Amino acid sequence: MQLQGQVAVVTGAGSGIGRAIALAFAREGASVGIADIAADGAQKVAAEIEAAGGTALAVTMDVTDEAMVNAGVDRIAERFGRLDAMVANAGIQIVHPIEEFPYEEFRRVVDIHLGGSFLLTKAAVRHMYPKKRGALIYMGSVHSHEASALKSAYVAAKHGILGLARTMAKEGGKHGVRSNVICPGFVRTPLVEKQIPEQARDLGISEEEVVKNVMLGRTVDGEFTTLEDVAALAVFLAGFRSAALTGQSITASHGWYMG
Ligand SMILES: NC(=O)c1ccc[n+]([C@@H]2O[C@H](COP(=O)([O-])OP(=O)(O)OC[C@H]3O[C@@H](n4cnc5c(N)ncnc54)[C@H](O)[C@@H]3O)[C@@H](O)[C@H]2O)c1
Repeated sequence: MQLQGQVAVVTGAGSGIGRAIALAFAREGASVGIADIAADGAQKVAAEIEAAGGTALAVTMDVTDEAMVNAGVDRIAERFGRLDAMVANAGIQIVHPIEEFPYEEFRRVVDIHLGGSFLLTKAAVRHMYPKKRGALIYMGSVHSHEASALKSAYVAAKHGILGLARTMAKEGGKHGVRSNVICPGFVRTPLVEKQIPEQARDLGISEEEVVKNVMLGRTVDGEFTTLEDVAALAVFLAGFRSAALTGQSITASHGWYMG
């Protein structure tokens, strides 16, 4: 067990990648705070972990609400006595050509990804700095490094996360806190399933073409990245033994982005 006795909070853990990371952390011996705006999703994942013999606490949290983030992180740290890792993973996707992109929707995407990562970091380091240890893990994307048409808000937010994580590597260093970003390629989650018909409509191509050419066209083998691939990286980063690995982004994308 790589995370025995550790305590983690994972946002957006009620679905998709966050859920997979929470389950993997629990399997590796961590107690996990399951934070999500969708209370039922969070409860379900926490129950799943407990049923498998793990330890979890569901917390309803909108990552754009500072009071809610602080209260949720405090509750998890108080319940389990410490906080060793945070995974800022909650996210949404909205795609439009820029001339049709409502500013309100642009702000919502940036607020959840970048603002939410900022607020979670601020809440988490209050528990980590006094203990002189901690792992900050941010969910970036290949879109932290590459751009795609129609995704101005998402690409801007995911690039911004690199800046936040690198700054935290510098600020956290003297407090024993490491900071890294995971950058997955496309993973088949509800967030991606929703985009397939939307992109087909906006680009005027079939759904099969969206998957083959737009999503996987630049991979080396035409394969999706899996939930297990991303969860394994999160376990690796949470359990890494020293600050040799900080300020980095690690990409798992079947060769779509090589950096
Ligand atoms: N699926 C992919 O291909 C892919 C690739 C790269 C990066 N990512 C990133 O992985 C993360 C998770 O995405 P996913 O594919 O698992 O999506 P998902 O839709 O399956 O899960 C996202 C979760 O975030 C929660 N959420 C949304 N807004 C929230 C808010 N304001 N506060 C708290 N929780 C909120 C949702 O309720 C949901 O449970 C996102 O940051 C996404 O950008 C996904």
